[in-house]
Amino acid sequence: MRHFLDINKTDPADLRTMIDSAASMKSARAGRPKGAPDDDQPLKDRMVALIFEKPSTRTRVSFDVGVRQMGGQTMVLTGSEMQLGHGETIADTARVLSRYVDLIMLRTFEEDVLLEMAEHATVPVINGLTNRTHPCQIMADIQTYEEHRGPITGKKVTWCGDGNNVFASFAHAAGQFGFDLTFAGPPTLDPEAVFLDEARARGATVTIERDAARAVAGADLVVTDTWVSMHDSQTTRERRHNQLRPYQVDEALMAMARPDALFMHCLPAHRNEEVTDAVMDGPQSVVFDEAENRLHAQKAVLRWCLGV
Ligand code: CP
Repeated sequence: MRHFLDINKTDPADLRTMIDSAASMKSARAGRPKGAPDDDQPLKDRMVALIFEKPSTRTRVSFDVGVRQMGGQTMVLTGSEMQLGHGETIADTARVLSRYVDLIMLRTFEEDVLLEMAEHATVPVINGLTNRTHPCQIMADIQTYEEHRGPITGKKVTWCGDGNNVFASFAHAAGQFGFDLTFAGPPTLDPEAVFLDEARARGATVTIERDAARAVAGADLVVTDTWVSMHDSQTTRERRHNQLRPYQVDEALMAMARPDALFMHCLPAHRNEEVTDAVMDGPQSVVFDEAENRLHAQKAVLRWCLGV
């Protein structure tokens, strides 16, 4: 049984297989209606539980559509609707769900909840985002970069903004796929050192840079993410905006990167905060390809987890 809990916990050869499989499945579906089934139906008769303790648009819809395209069925559950939110242990929930479904995808707050689910489930568990990491997003991002520019190995990726869970999975990917990663942000929002140390131990060059222009110089890919989460108070929002303003990705900053650099954002974006409209809608932006590739990349992850 294979869980997909994080990029650093997955063998690099398996990650490569999934990225290549995602690209093949995408091209095999080119031009078809979204609801049309894939030619092969590897998830026929499989039931997948999609559990969301936090809101989602892309993760929810892309997993649901992906399972259906591959012939499977889904049930979408929110934490508040389940006993999970009312005192039943994670371990018991994992044991019970494993009697009904073939795979569990979980979006939750605390990483420990995901790990406990995986420890006690007898079916594969996929990390659909925790407060620490977001591996499915970065699988889609790798697919997207390579679709446009070829292998990401040896390239320079610059992250502008908050050292959050999406950055953490980029750090995992830097170690596993062999690209250089620069973090540009204020010291108060640095990523956890463990993510940087592990990427370096695997041979990636990882740099912390306080000056956004220097960080972006020579970058093949520039990435940012929202500065605030929906749960942040007004005071927190104002403080983070003030700290992160120098790291806004605008046309002037993008011009510091390589001329063929791409721009990515996992979305949802707060336009004209972390990124300007001109960059979001500009020729270097691949944000909607990135969103689409959540579908294809996760289909590859599902197949890998189930061995089908
Ligand atoms: N990028 C991402 O995970 O989007 P959702 O929160 O809408 O799923």
